[in-house]
Amino acid sequence: MTRILRIDSSAQAEGSITRTMLDRIEARVGQADLRRDLGEDALPQIDRCWVAASRAPEAERTADHRAALALSDALIAEIEAADLLLIGVPIYNFGVPGALKIWVDLICRPGVTFRYDVAGPEGLLRGKSAILAVASGGTEVGSEADFATAYMRHVLAFVGITDTTVVATDRHMARGDDAPREARMQIAALAA
Ligand SMILES: Cc1cc2nc3c(=O)[nH]c(=O)nc-3n(C[C@H](O)[C@H](O)[C@H](O)COP(=O)(O)O)c2cc1C
Repeated sequence: MTRILRIDSSAQAEGSITRTMLDRIEARVGQADLRRDLGEDALPQIDRCWVAASRAPEAERTADHRAALALSDALIAEIEAADLLLIGVPIYNFGVPGALKIWVDLICRPGVTFRYDVAGPEGLLRGKSAILAVASGGTEVGSEADFATAYMRHVLAFVGITDTTVVATDRHMARGDDAPREARMQIAALAA
């Protein structure tokens, strides 16, 4: 059975297009086993202690270091327990919402989710796939001005999740009903 982790990041509760898309994607691919609502429950930003802790060898970590990494450990464990990630990505100011960027900062951990050797970076989260539900008001998804979709694809690949599908409600402020119609067709084409 596919274990699914759903991550919402829209600041909107009512009328959120990415939330509606993720609901539809769940109806298609299966209900999420675990949900993280970053728009509802904001995560704390990484800080000085967190960075020091993430770089310290495990045996040398202080109690403060371990406390600083506890949430990051929990978020990574949520990904490790999942086969499929469903991530809502509203485009905010051409990038991802700050709430989602904080999640990214917390799950990119040297020696845990990625490592570097002479050959370059190696992602350590293997055998997983992701579906991004992207929504934009006026920025064309996949265009040069869309730093959100390429960024999320890149970050996921960096930690080892290279199988990523994008479903988009693209430029809905400009395109009206065509945008959600297209997204519904993309969702219907996802493997059930
Ligand atoms: C703070 C903020 C910034 C936004 N910036 C952009 C943007 O740069 N480009 C764009 O196309 N739409 C932008 N939008 C519109 C959203 O991408 C669009 O409304 C989308 O549907 C948001 O996702 P949601 O409906 O799940 O909340 C912005 C919306 C907000 C609230």
